[in-house]
Amino acid sequence: MPNNEIENAAAILRAGGLVAFPTETVYGLGADASNPDAVKKIFAAKGRPQNHPLIVHLADASHLAHWVRDIPMAAHRLGERFWPGPITLILHRAENVPDALTGNQDTVGLRVPGHPVAHALLQAFGSGIAAPSANRFGRISPTTAEHVRAELGERVDMVLDGGSCDIGIESTIVDLSGNRPTLLRPGKISAAEIEEVLGEPLVRPGPSSARAPGMLAVHYAPQTPLHAVSGKVLAETAYRLIAQGKRPAVLAYHHAPIADARIAWFAAPSQEAGYARELYANLRRLDQPIYDVILVEQVPPGEEWNAVRDRLAKAAASKEDF
Ligand code: TXA
Ligand code: MG
Repeated sequence: MPNNEIENAAAILRAGGLVAFPTETVYGLGADASNPDAVKKIFAAKGRPQNHPLIVHLADASHLAHWVRDIPMAAHRLGERFWPGPITLILHRAENVPDALTGNQDTVGLRVPGHPVAHALLQAFGSGIAAPSANRFGRISPTTAEHVRAELGERVDMVLDGGSCDIGIESTIVDLSGNRPTLLRPGKISAAEIEEVLGEPLVRPGPSSARAPGMLAVHYAPQTPLHAVSGKVLAETAYRLIAQGKRPAVLAYHHAPIADARIAWFAAPSQEAGYARELYANLRRLDQPIYDVILVEQVPPGEEWNAVRDRLAKAAASKEDF
């Protein structure tokens, strides 16, 4: 990416504008994290409720002290091990952190992204960049610059194009502000890897426990109803829908394709990393008015699929029969 593009983007941020940029997880919609008016523009562009706090992106961990008071040892350890990389830490915020950013909470989320374009932008800008995923509220996160434009159009002043995101799903979020470290959102960096560094188990909130602000049951969702079904009943479910006059689109990772023109068949990578990388682009392909229902073949049990399973559960229309 040419230097002057990065410089232009940094100048837009300094002037209080919005710049979408690639990270290794998904594209972010960035604004100067120290400027409350700029931060408010993020909420307006996304249509996001004001009480959903934003993550602040930093060039490196040395900037932590500006945003956080009493940095716990666990944060140093996790930062040293995983930053730059796809993990966000929730910590007690410093006095100067704008309320607009944190939804008036006493904590702030921080991450040092590993993508070279994100890093160049953070270095050129010189301070924290607040950035949620660059999608309209509740929708699928963008993993290409084209997705960002499709989501936000003229609502964003500039989009830095860094190609497709490598990881494809959002960062792991660990809350270190309470008595015990808590996993708020699973991601590429697994709970087991984090526990190994911390030397203690993570609290993993169950589906029924109180959610963190901004953690909704339905999120990352296509507009077409999506249902996850086991590979064993994929074909019969698709034919049942056809019998009801519906056009199903199927996302399979293992099941052999059903050669039937009435079924739109999409094959996902069979390994977890590739599946995650392509998940949101696949959901966008599946989310078209020509299809009535999206059927996703259930992914395997097991820890390494946790983050993908979490995103699919949030994309699902309902857990009820259909
Ligand atoms: O990979 C990522 O994390 C991407 C890239 C752009 O960095 N960002 C991202 O941001 O996914 P966003 O805003 O779409 O999701 C961040 C989540 C939200 O659910 C928000 O509620 C939660 O993090 N969060 C942020 N600050 C928090 C805080 N202080 N306490 C609890 N949850 C927080
Ligand atoms: Mg998001």
